[in-house]
Amino acid sequence: MGRKVFLVGDGAVGSTFANDLLQNVQVDELVICDVAKDRAFGDTLDIEDITPFTGNTKVRTGEYSEAGDADVCVITAGVPRKPGETRLDLIAKNVKILQSIVKPVVDSGFKGVFVVSANPVDILTTLTQKLSGFPKSRVIGTGTSLDSMRLRVEISKRLNVPVTDVYAMVLGEHGDTSFENFQEAMIGDKPLRSFEELTDEVLEEIETEIRKKGGKIIANKGATYYGVAMMLTQIVKSILENKAICLPVSAPIDGEYGIKHNLYLGTPAVIDGRGIVEVIQTPLTDQEQAKMQFSADKMAEALASIEL
Ligand code: 2OP
Repeated sequence: MGRKVFLVGDGAVGSTFANDLLQNVQVDELVICDVAKDRAFGDTLDIEDITPFTGNTKVRTGEYSEAGDADVCVITAGVPRKPGETRLDLIAKNVKILQSIVKPVVDSGFKGVFVVSANPVDILTTLTQKLSGFPKSRVIGTGTSLDSMRLRVEISKRLNVPVTDVYAMVLGEHGDTSFENFQEAMIGDKPLRSFEELTDEVLEEIETEIRKKGGKIIANKGATYYGVAMMLTQIVKSILENKAICLPVSAPIDGEYGIKHNLYLGTPAVIDGRGIVEVIQTPLTDQEQAKMQFSADKMAEALASIEL
């Protein structure tokens, strides 16, 4: 049995992910499923032309019924944000799209891991688990992994240090209630909080900037896809190669941080070939804890408004 990925949604994120995936992971078969059939077919013809350099991957279009033997089902399908929209504004449209995807994939006999990036990703990841009935460990959302990469880039630029030396996480909602876990952030072997130039005011400014970066990219170029596609690739690579990674993703909360809600939210988690093998409750200051609770409450409120 080879490594098979079933990709639902071949828009900017899906197509960029497909290209990234083949350049980073040995995949035997990539099946692209999209309602825009001609575009998906054209994309398979385009992407297969990189395989002489990336490896012998069969790239084709397919229907939900062909997801049965896939190791991973990546869901990028959804309406993207327009300038000025929040991710939660997409709930009505993207929950409907999600409902049209999950059941047929499960009916195909799919037994792999769902990886979700469509927005609002914490809501859609929670609903993917509910709609599929899969074990919570086999549903993962990109969550605040993207925001965490943005935070690392921002700190690297401000301190003029290599981004690879910056370890920092954004937690909570991948959205307007996300927050930085500055308490645990490190620059090399030095705690971020030991850098005097990073005053509380500067850190607050950074937190706001990161929260707004997705919107800023959309306002300037119309969409975002490179960052989120790379996070999808890192997660799928870990699953296909069964190589453990630890990333802040949209992971199933089961009492962590004292949160009583049953939902997915941005927190560090260990991922390997089995999906999420450990959800990590990272130390938070009282202020960070309050932000985590606020984020969870906002997500629970949004979920309560959805009728499946
Ligand atoms: C972003 O922030 C797509 O929500 C994603 O770029």
